[in-house]
Amino acid sequence: MVHVTEKREYTGEYADKTLYLPGPTEVRDDVIEAMAEPMFGHRMERMTDLYTTIVEDTKEFLDTDRDVIVLTASGTAFWEATTLNLVEDRMLVPTSGAFSERQANVAERLEKDVDRIEYEWGQAVKPEDVRDALDAGDYDAVGMVMNETSTGVRNPVEEIGDLLGEYPDTSFVVDAISCLGGDFIDIEDHNIDAIFTSTQKAFAMPPGLAVCTVSDAAYERELERDSASWYGGFQRCLDYYDRKGQTHSTPAIPLMLAYRTQLKHMLEEGHHRRDERHREMAEYTREWAREHFDLYAEEGYRSQTVTCVENARDINVEATVEAVSERYDMVFASGYGAISEESFRIGHMGEHTVESIQALTDAIEDVAGL
Ligand SMILES: Cc1ncc(COP(=O)(O)O)c(C=O)c1O
Repeated sequence: MVHVTEKREYTGEYADKTLYLPGPTEVRDDVIEAMAEPMFGHRMERMTDLYTTIVEDTKEFLDTDRDVIVLTASGTAFWEATTLNLVEDRMLVPTSGAFSERQANVAERLEKDVDRIEYEWGQAVKPEDVRDALDAGDYDAVGMVMNETSTGVRNPVEEIGDLLGEYPDTSFVVDAISCLGGDFIDIEDHNIDAIFTSTQKAFAMPPGLAVCTVSDAAYERELERDSASWYGGFQRCLDYYDRKGQTHSTPAIPLMLAYRTQLKHMLEEGHHRRDERHREMAEYTREWAREHFDLYAEEGYRSQTVTCVENARDINVEATVEAVSERYDMVFASGYGAISEESFRIGHMGEHTVESIQALTDAIEDVAGL
């Protein structure tokens, strides 16, 4: 095998940059500091205190009695686990960007029979198309991305979930990775069987934990499957919690300590007020984008956590991202993949405020000469 990557020594000498990425995002100092505790064992009582605290506080934040799994993994693990746990043969995946396409791809890799409903990038998934597909075929599950991070589209998962009530044999799996905690959703009200996120997004944590809520129906359905995931098996994770209040294997204890601290901040603010703050940031960012550029996502379906700005002025996106980083120590994202120069993305999630987002837009204006 030809090796093309060479070691580049990590020096530790890097400027501290403020992150406006669609994840990872800024993390509070006390959350970072919470990780620096002496290590303890994952079968000690102290671990039960920690794990039961973060699971129950997550439920309180999301205002749900549903079961919660906190897994040492990035969110991608739950694409695999939910597919293995809930899909015997057929899965419907509406695709409207890079992440929904990858969700479909993961299921195909797991040898599931996947039907896509394909949309152009920037378009949202339409409930009537999902209904048509469900009327035409039997699916074990519909898998959907709530917030398409590559295009800044917020899909109408609530409406789609409501219509799924008419198809009780089909599970509803929602990837809310780039929005949960920054865009309110009533988890129990829309026939959602599993909804998951990664902690480095609107939960404003370091990366490394993935959080999923599981309906009773999904738990029961997994019991019927031969193919259920071991690592992300609902039954294995949840039964272990019920018996021991711990995780089935050794978790990232420092990250769980950090999550405990961050959850206290999230509970103090509350899910609804967090949602409101994100709405204000999204409105500010969209107004700024309309004034200077344009918006990539279809009107009426714009994300509350990630704005994808259409590069209507034809600025050099890569050079602007670079210069803002050099001159202002602020990092935002160019467009995703094939639209890297056609667009750029501002992550207004986690602990950011309208004021902190304005500092970035001021910097972009200065660098791009707007
Ligand atoms: C919508 C969406 N799904 C899945 C992922 C993958 O998440 P992770 O990198 O935590 O595995 C991302 C990451 O940006 C995402 O935005």
